[in-house]
Amino acid sequence: MEPTQEDPHIGDLIVDSESLQLRIRELGEVISKDFNGKAPLLIGVLKGAFMFMSDLAKSITVPVEFDFMAISSYGSATKSSGVVRILKDLDADIAGRDVIVVEDIIESGLTLQYLLRNLKARGPESVTVCTLLLKRGLQRADLQVDYVGFEIPADFVVGYGLDVAERFRNLPFVARYIEDPES
Ligand code: IMP
Ligand code: MG
Repeated sequence: MEPTQEDPHIGDLIVDSESLQLRIRELGEVISKDFNGKAPLLIGVLKGAFMFMSDLAKSITVPVEFDFMAISSYGSATKSSGVVRILKDLDADIAGRDVIVVEDIIESGLTLQYLLRNLKARGPESVTVCTLLLKRGLQRADLQVDYVGFEIPADFVVGYGLDVAERFRNLPFVARYIEDPES
């Protein structure tokens, strides 16, 4: 059992850090095979994907470049609405590039659906999606997700990049978030 951050809001472990690292290494190996001979552009979706992108990239053996987008979805703190605002756009043109979108978590899929539509309009050679986490049974958008680290239950989770109001991103594992520890 891993040390859990001493905070009553941190609940059960969903994915421990060793499992994260093992699975991310596997994903990196598969991506390296699939992109053999190519030089994909990794697009990290900030802020949640920063830790995953960093570890994933270390396991990829084909040449990669990095870019980032920051988006905010309107909605409540824990529910996505599908209405997305771009806070930081890509630095570079992606026309003709093989793009791999690196996401932290897909819940409804609405955020990603917006992002993919936006990116595809810029004329990339290909767009592939790699998400660390996918919440089982909650997708409301018809999406093709090419690489999934872990399918997890529908509960809200934190850690390894994922936050609640900017907290808990630094946890090296993914844990369930307990909204009201008193109840
Ligand atoms: P979707 O649009 O419903 O797929 O939500 C995706 C976005 O909502 C992710 O990129 C996260 O920023 C956020 N999100 C969804 N579920 C969680 C969670 O369990 N913990 C933290 N953030 C989440
Ligand atoms: Mg967030």
